[in-house]
Amino acid sequence: MAENGDVFKVEKNDAISFLQSFEAESVDTIITDPPYCSYGVGSSGNKYAAKESERSYVFECGNDILFDNKDFFSNFMFFKVWAAECLRVLKDESRLFVFCDRYGLAQTICMGQMVGFTYLGFVTWCKTSARPQPTRFRKACEYAVEFCKGTPHVKTRNYPNDWWQGAIVQKDKRVHQTQKPVDLIKYLLDFCPENGLVVDPFCGSGSTGVAALELGMRFAGCDLNEKCVNVASRLCGEAAENFEEKIEDDTAV
Ligand SMILES: C[S@@+](CC[C@H](N)C(=O)[O-])C[C@H]1O[C@@H](n2cnc3c(N)ncnc32)[C@H](O)[C@@H]1O
Repeated sequence: MAENGDVFKVEKNDAISFLQSFEAESVDTIITDPPYCSYGVGSSGNKYAAKESERSYVFECGNDILFDNKDFFSNFMFFKVWAAECLRVLKDESRLFVFCDRYGLAQTICMGQMVGFTYLGFVTWCKTSARPQPTRFRKACEYAVEFCKGTPHVKTRNYPNDWWQGAIVQKDKRVHQTQKPVDLIKYLLDFCPENGLVVDPFCGSGSTGVAALELGMRFAGCDLNEKCVNVASRLCGEAAENFEEKIEDDTAV
């Protein structure tokens, strides 16, 4: 990455040991989407794996989200360790965004503050469609909880709202079960400096990396699932190439 002149790296690793490999105060923004573990205690195994057998298609990254069935307390202990590493590696006044659903929102807000982050609020992703729920409101939103290391002074570029509306990634473009739209991640990168280093320790198919690279920022990510690492490396590679071509076109005389 920064050391050898490349603009990104994606590796197969555990989130904690990956974050431990960074120097303190070396990262500009962390945007991450860890397993939601929404069902907690009482879950009958992995909710996505259970559905896989019913599906006629399997995403390139597989339909199984690793470690998505931790109970509340195990997830709490795990979060505490990786989020504390995020606090260590982020520069002062830099942001951490953590995705979650309505079940994990309260827990995520508490856990981030518990490790020492300043809680700033959350950006709601309003999906344009959601499956009907027979006995409750549709799950049409997910949340990116926004934390800062210290007090934020960095000025916004675009004065964004705390909500973003957009569709889930369509099946023909979808490679990961819980893939986030690249435009949503770009929206969250409003406060990241140009050419800043963006990190995602649960990178899945690499949406954070693609967004960062398309905006001219650098990216480092990891995932435990080898299929994800291969897909994320390919998609980030394409984004980096397009970016370099665009720079060449723009500067051509
Ligand atoms: C919700 S998905 C991320 C999806 C991603 N945002 C995207 O757009 O493709 C969470 C990812 O975390 C990975 N994961 C689970 N436990 C992990 C760990 N301890 N360290 C690193 N990655 C892990 C899973 O393999 C999964 O791909």
